[in-house]
Amino acid sequence: MTDTIQKDIPLAPYTTFGIGGVADFFVSVDSFDAVREACQWAQANNQPIQILGHGSNVLISDEGVRGLVIHMAVHGVTYTDTPAGVLVTAGAGVVFDDLVADTVARGLWGLENLSAIPSSVGAAPVQNIGAYGAEVATMITEVAIYDYATNETRRLSGHECAFGYRDSIFKKEVAASWVVTQVTFLLHTEGGPNIAYKDLAHHFDGNDMPTCAHVRDAVIAIRSQKFPDWSTEGNAGSFFKNPVIPRVQYAELIERYPDMPGFPTDDGHIKTSTAWILDHILHSKGVQEGSVRLYERQPLVLVNCGGATATEVAGFAQSIADRVQECCGIALEWEVTQI
Ligand code: EPU
Repeated sequence: MTDTIQKDIPLAPYTTFGIGGVADFFVSVDSFDAVREACQWAQANNQPIQILGHGSNVLISDEGVRGLVIHMAVHGVTYTDTPAGVLVTAGAGVVFDDLVADTVARGLWGLENLSAIPSSVGAAPVQNIGAYGAEVATMITEVAIYDYATNETRRLSGHECAFGYRDSIFKKEVAASWVVTQVTFLLHTEGGPNIAYKDLAHHFDGNDMPTCAHVRDAVIAIRSQKFPDWSTEGNAGSFFKNPVIPRVQYAELIERYPDMPGFPTDDGHIKTSTAWILDHILHSKGVQEGSVRLYERQPLVLVNCGGATATEVAGFAQSIADRVQECCGIALEWEVTQI
């Protein structure tokens, strides 16, 4: 193991933002044993551990990361037929969209609305990634973790993952020493499209019998219109979360902004739209400061126009958040994880 650990590795190329300083130590791990060995090396050498997946939802500091960065590259996908459906178990390092493509090609329903999301499989439960009316929370039956504090492995049920909007137990303190190594999804051969989300309903316009492959194609087409391609314009998808606010606050806001979208949540709050606020109240689509700008077609996305630093991105995000606080009394939260 020690011979595969590298020193002083720049992390920017391992992120979709193309931003980030140097890792003191870095290793790519492609098996469960390699994950455990890497963690044990770090602990024996008093080095903190940072797990990195596809690097698509992180803003890594310009100062880099102290300790050992473990780049998750555990691959492999297995399919098991059960009376309840098909259990699909994938290694944490599998590219999430490769998994979606493979399941859709097999005619399995479930993940198609989550097409073209940049992520690793291991990050999917952490964020409870979601798009176009679907969330992995409804499909994940089990998550395998390795806890390097106790040197134990464990399998959590979907219920134990405590999923919420872009939230899960994996973001909590209890999970600070956990590494997600494998995720199991329950998918179905018999199924139907979930196309109630506005953009998809509009795309299919009355044709309510698309296959899961049609839905995947539609999602890819819709996303490519709205999200910049990170390989040419660095970004981390939605930078901010959509705010979840009390009903009374929403009632006050729609008196001032009658068209502000609002969707009731299960716990009696209202989820409104950051993109709408940035577009219709702040008119800030395409606004640029230094090398960072709000994407023209989806202002929830911050783009690295070339050579942006993490400090610049964080400063720009703060100025946007301050303006949203001023006009709406809403404290925007980052969707992106700061490392
Ligand atoms: N809107 C505008 N102007 C715009 C874009 C959107 O006013 O330029 C308003 C519209 O009213 C629209 C609403 O915002 O109805 C919502 O927009 P959209 O459907 O594009 O979705 P979103 O809420 O902005 C969320 C997720 C995305 C996901 C899309 C599609 C979050 C933080 N973001 O964005 O997830 O792809 O829905 O389902 O929940 C991600 O998490 O990285 C991500 C890309």
